[in-house]
Amino acid sequence: MAKLETTYLGLELKNPLVAASSGLTNSVEKIKKLEKEGIGAVVLKSVFEEQINNEVTSMLQKDSHNQGYPEAEDYIKHYLRDNTVSGHINLIEEAKKAVDIPVIASVNCVSSNEWTTFAKDFQDAGADALELNIFYVPTDKRESNESIEQLYLDVLKKVKKEVSIPVSVKIGLFHSNIVGMVDRLKASGAKGVVMFNRFYEPDINLDKLELTSSEIFSSPSDIRQSLRWVGMVTSMVPNIDIAASTGIHTGDAVAKQLLAGAQVAQLCSTLYINGTGVLPEMIETLENFMKKWNFKHLEDFRGRLSYRNISDPMMYERAQFMKYFSNKGK
Ligand SMILES: Cc1cc2nc3c(=O)[nH]c(=O)nc-3n(C[C@H](O)[C@H](O)[C@H](O)COP(=O)(O)O)c2cc1C
Repeated sequence: MAKLETTYLGLELKNPLVAASSGLTNSVEKIKKLEKEGIGAVVLKSVFEEQINNEVTSMLQKDSHNQGYPEAEDYIKHYLRDNTVSGHINLIEEAKKAVDIPVIASVNCVSSNEWTTFAKDFQDAGADALELNIFYVPTDKRESNESIEQLYLDVLKKVKKEVSIPVSVKIGLFHSNIVGMVDRLKASGAKGVVMFNRFYEPDINLDKLELTSSEIFSSPSDIRQSLRWVGMVTSMVPNIDIAASTGIHTGDAVAKQLLAGAQVAQLCSTLYINGTGVLPEMIETLENFMKKWNFKHLEDFRGRLSYRNISDPMMYERAQFMKYFSNKGK
């Protein structure tokens, strides 16, 4: 009988399937349903620093009486912040009462300022861990790469000062040195790194000549975005939990990420597209895969095909299609 139990960020999970932060985890009812279908842990919908900032700006713009009054701005900022944060605290408390699986709170940060202080409130509400979803879009051409990476480390260090629960960082694919970035996050106290977030990307509507948003859900082929880096990072940066995220739609995709070295697989688009009913199917597929290869525990095969463990690690580094084309005669 295949045993799917694993740890993640030091927490005990019944299996390596984790519901990624999204609207799928923004209510107790949805979280209960995910647990019933077999999910191993949930990451709650993020509290967004940027959203609170934007709401403050738009409220101030609407109310011309307040313009130029720093106290009014402060008041609105604190009111909105407290309101949003208390909603999240409520969700953590209620979810912790309703389910037995680990509940991971999530904060989206674009700076290391005051927002980091509410991490402690999430810990006090019972969150088992905290995921920092950091995404910063540089628009100043004079800003250096180092200062941008430093921002990630500053947010993490500041949060680490506030809480004792494990903290993970969810990063995007666009770092110039992903292995180095994960290593620096580990040195700054991260217990785990989620690779990778998938962001809202712009598109252009040619009929309306308007900027619009592109497809928000991933497709199964997007797994290739994370597989290379999971395989390389888990080999080169030991003792940090890597959660694979992006394009994991099936049990086979979970098996691939585990073989590359992931600790858990975070799921989002597949749950939106196929519903939570896909979870028992994914678990069954993973069990069948383990049965086929006579793996009893996840540790029997985790990382077996990581960068370090294959005879030709260049397979992970190869970036050009040269060999493929020469073999196929194309
Ligand atoms: C509708 C939607 C909402 C999301 N909201 C959040 C969020 O609040 N916080 C976050 O860290 N990631 C958020 N994400 C990103 C997902 O957690 C996940 O990392 C990403 O979609 C890649 O996984 P997937 O390929 O399984 O969809 C969201 C994704 C979608 C599609």
